[in-house]
Amino acid sequence: MEEHSRAQRFLLAYTSDFIARTGRNPLALVHSFGCQQNVSDGERLMGRLAAVGYGFTKDPEEASLIIYNTCAVRENAEDRVYGAIGQLKHLKERKPELVIGICGCMAQQKHVAEKIKETYKQVDLVFGTFAYNDLYEMLCEVIENKKRVFNRSERPTDIDEDFVQLRENSFQAFVPIMYGCNNFCTYCIVPYVRGRERSRRPESIIREVQGLADSGYKEITLLGQNVNSYSYGFSELLRAVNDIEGDFRIRFMSSHPKDASMELIDTILSCDKVCKQLHLPVQAGSDRVLKLMNRKYDTTTYLEIVDYIRDKAPGFSLSTDIIVGFPGETYEEFCMTKALIKRVKYDNIYSFVYSKRSGTPAAELPDDISDKQKGLWLRELLLEQRETSSVWLRRFIGQICRVLVEGKGRKSEEYMTGKNDEGIIVEFKGSEELIGKFVPVRITKAMNWALEGELTGIDQ
Ligand code: 5AD
Ligand code: SF4
Repeated sequence: MEEHSRAQRFLLAYTSDFIARTGRNPLALVHSFGCQQNVSDGERLMGRLAAVGYGFTKDPEEASLIIYNTCAVRENAEDRVYGAIGQLKHLKERKPELVIGICGCMAQQKHVAEKIKETYKQVDLVFGTFAYNDLYEMLCEVIENKKRVFNRSERPTDIDEDFVQLRENSFQAFVPIMYGCNNFCTYCIVPYVRGRERSRRPESIIREVQGLADSGYKEITLLGQNVNSYSYGFSELLRAVNDIEGDFRIRFMSSHPKDASMELIDTILSCDKVCKQLHLPVQAGSDRVLKLMNRKYDTTTYLEIVDYIRDKAPGFSLSTDIIVGFPGETYEEFCMTKALIKRVKYDNIYSFVYSKRSGTPAAELPDDISDKQKGLWLRELLLEQRETSSVWLRRFIGQICRVLVEGKGRKSEEYMTGKNDEGIIVEFKGSEELIGKFVPVRITKAMNWALEGELTGIDQ
């Protein structure tokens, strides 16, 4: 039998006592802000909570435990979290036994942990990204000993390879393959809050994907800040995952352009389950700015990869991240970013106004363009993108796409929405029974950011 720690035994006794008193499990609300890596961490925390007897809710009123898993990548992400924590003050006053925890990338930063400690007294527990393995001990300290706990361990814990996780979605799954980042782009807080790169063993990743395929998952996304530097060879891993039997597709993100090789592209093209899609964050279109960002590639090498892809697979889908208004970026340099997105033809762009992160090298650089001005540049960029992508998306008109149905559409009541293999949103008339299934959709119309089509018979 598996041996339980003292903290685990305490929590098991706590939850069974709760059930005896109320007739139901204590409920936890775990909300993850930010990227998919965070969502995946949140699922891991939920797996641990389920193992000691917690159930789950989305309603703060019903919860005995609320955990916000936070994102620190931009200031507005942090502001949203502060707003959400502020809103819990009255709830805690009404329900003093409610336990409130803040974890993740914000909590890993010293100044944030201190601010929460001083200003948000309703918070019982603050823990950073290296402390997840101590969850039971921390909870036990709060519940049993009624103490506030602050845990900002600086030491990355060993990777818990076969962690239990509780997935919220029954057909799309995120599978982390590595944690942390070694790149130190000068604007980015991630290497400071998630530490250096650590890769999971291929055997345990393959075992996990096998399990997901066996349980009918249809889309598996391999996750890492830079999957191309996966220690045990990313192309080999892709091929091994592709060989697993089942009706599912494979995506991955993100790729750093400095490590995206022709070999990777050839691997993607030769693996039938791997989607013909690449998220290749370029960040800026000026070589001077890329250098200041410490991105370690220039636009020429970036475009070489793009041209290689376009040559081998003309319909391939590319998406990117862009930062507008990096310190010292001039309007002319910003225009080079616009020219680049026109040249590459992305299906999707995630663009952000530069946000100063304290502790990063870029925070020390002079920055004399106002946020208002940068906001106008961002609008200009989005207009350019809309124009380019609405034309580029037309390549799908008349094609039959395989769409994984995700939910109800935005267009009207009768519409459902999903994504095709290239990761592009497709809306079509259909019913809710299709959610979680692959369906063939003939594309009839391209909009700015999405496609529209009609369900079609498989044999057509
Ligand atoms: N300001 C604005 N955007 C940022 N990103 C990362 N750090 C910052 C920052 N300080 C963006 C990058 C990255 C994406 C996940 O977030 O474009 O690729
Ligand atoms: Fe941040 Fe650069 Fe690492 Fe991406 S590659 S997480 S932008 S430091």
